[in-house]
Amino acid sequence: MNYSDILKNTEIIDYYQIGNMILGKQGFIDHSPVHTRLVAERAAKILDSLGYSEEELELARIAGYLHDIGNAINRSAHAEYGAIIASGILKDLDMDMKERVQIVSSIANHEESVEAVPDPITAAIIIADKTDVRRARVRERNIEAFNINDKVNNAVTSTQLDCDPSERKITLTLNIDESISTIYDYFEMFRGRMLMCTRAADTLEAKLEIFVNGQKVL
Ligand SMILES: [Fe+2]
Ligand SMILES: [Fe+2]
Repeated sequence: MNYSDILKNTEIIDYYQIGNMILGKQGFIDHSPVHTRLVAERAAKILDSLGYSEEELELARIAGYLHDIGNAINRSAHAEYGAIIASGILKDLDMDMKERVQIVSSIANHEESVEAVPDPITAAIIIADKTDVRRARVRERNIEAFNINDKVNNAVTSTQLDCDPSERKITLTLNIDESISTIYDYFEMFRGRMLMCTRAADTLEAKLEIFVNGQKVL
């Protein structure tokens, strides 16, 4: 059982359909498998650039794809619920126990409420998740009804994440349309997430840099 088998699993797809539908009604941006696949593949890319093993990359892909599955149960505790759901699914698929425990722990620890970032797989998922800021994630069509999340995501015209293995540096480069949202709005919304990304970079023994509209802001 590998990442491509997980992508085809219909139980997981059903959880995401329901979770994303509920979040849509509550005014949240997209949390479908489009987001979670991006997180899976970006997390693996970060670990690959920093020299981690193919086994660790594969665990990061699976945990990254499953990280938001708990939204089907409850948004505020989706990390914890998601870990429990994923544990059941992966057990049914006969995943090796040690691998399953790692994946479950990474899912449970991917949110801002967590003070410490325990391991490199969780760290890569956190950075991949918190840096997925894109206009395409906005679901509200009425600009007047935008919340801060909609506004900032709508303003981001491009996002790029690069890793420099020799300097162990992770660089997030964002371009924001300042006629839609200011850089201040971005930091207002992302302060907690950026702090978590900085802690995650520490766990990866790397430095995180952020450029917004050509200016180094972190
Ligand atoms: Fe999440
Ligand atoms: Fe997410």
